[in-house]
Amino acid sequence: MNTEKTRVCILFGGRSTEYKVSLRSAFSVLSNIDRDAYDVTTVGITEEGEFYLYRGGADAIMSDEWRNGDVRPVTLDPAPGKGGLLYLEGGEYKKLAVDVVFPVVHGKYCEDGTLQGMLSMCGIPYVGCGCAASAVSMDKTLTKRLLSNYEVPQANAAVIDARELASDEDDVVSRIENMLSYPVFVKPSSSGSSVGASKADGREALLRAIREAERIDRKILVEEYIVGREVEIAALEEADGSVTLSCCGEIDPGDGFYDYETKYENDRAKYYIPAHIMPETEIRIKETASLIFSVLGCRGFARIDFFVRDFKGTEQIVFNEINTLPGFTSISMYPQLMEKIGIPYKELITRLINTAGV
Ligand SMILES: Nc1ncnc2c1ncn2[C@@H]1O[C@H](COP(=O)(O)OP(=O)(O)O)[C@@H](O)[C@H]1O
Ligand SMILES: [Mg+2]
Repeated sequence: MNTEKTRVCILFGGRSTEYKVSLRSAFSVLSNIDRDAYDVTTVGITEEGEFYLYRGGADAIMSDEWRNGDVRPVTLDPAPGKGGLLYLEGGEYKKLAVDVVFPVVHGKYCEDGTLQGMLSMCGIPYVGCGCAASAVSMDKTLTKRLLSNYEVPQANAAVIDARELASDEDDVVSRIENMLSYPVFVKPSSSGSSVGASKADGREALLRAIREAERIDRKILVEEYIVGREVEIAALEEADGSVTLSCCGEIDPGDGFYDYETKYENDRAKYYIPAHIMPETEIRIKETASLIFSVLGCRGFARIDFFVRDFKGTEQIVFNEINTLPGFTSISMYPQLMEKIGIPYKELITRLINTAGV
């Protein structure tokens, strides 16, 4: 019966450099979500951070024309238990109840705990990690420091604050050069989709790379440059709290690293499921991913990314980063990995909605 449907609110867009990535993920979710089980409401967040209730099709989301459609300002009711959206219509606030929010958004103000905190405050269950796990996972430095207390192999790194560089460039550069040798990899501590990340093979390039990263985040990671395969694994929480791990997938970015253009704008990259790694390497990745999911206190799902490099004739794994709201188009790595272990995209959406919490 229709009245029994769970009311799901799909959030898309966001005040983030990954706004456009979210539009694609949301298009896929809206095109595949089980409409017999769910009453779907869509709320779009503009790049400026305005929230709008959007009543229209998924095509206009994909083409980023949704704002020209039926939109009205919307906000969340902060009173827990009311579980609702408040929107403006004819100069009056109206209420729209939702049971679950699925934030199909990525990056800053989306995946970093801020939105999660807001939803928790309102008492509305949402898909994915809670506030603390999202915040720590978004900040690569915090993740690194926390995981360094466990046996998680990671790239050697220096953490710098762009303000220090402004005051004493020579000192900062020598600190980095004492710790690492070129080439190095420079990235904003909190970013996504490779925005602001680059390789540097000398001092001049290092300073350029730092300036690039600084546009995204004042806190910057300078890492040893890892030469190896890029291998990703998908984790999905089950109703009993156990975590299902997929097999591993591999990305060959072709020439250079896996940058924004290679991720979304050209077809240079090749994807392999399963990854070309030894069975014992896959076991190690699974054990490590499961440890990371639990140490960070993740909920629902996450994609955990590694490098696998040759080391004295064997394969060594190096944890790279965790994504708590991974790219979620039907052809993105996370859904593809789940599909490979027998969870089709539509069912995956349902299973994720079932893991929602506050
Ligand atoms: N230490 C490193 N050595 C070599 N390449 C790296 C290193 N760190 C990141 N990269 C490359 O940059 C890409 C983006 O970096 P990543 O840490 O995954 O940040 P993002 O959150 O932007 O995806 C990776 O997929 C990889 O290709
Ligand atoms: Mg990445």
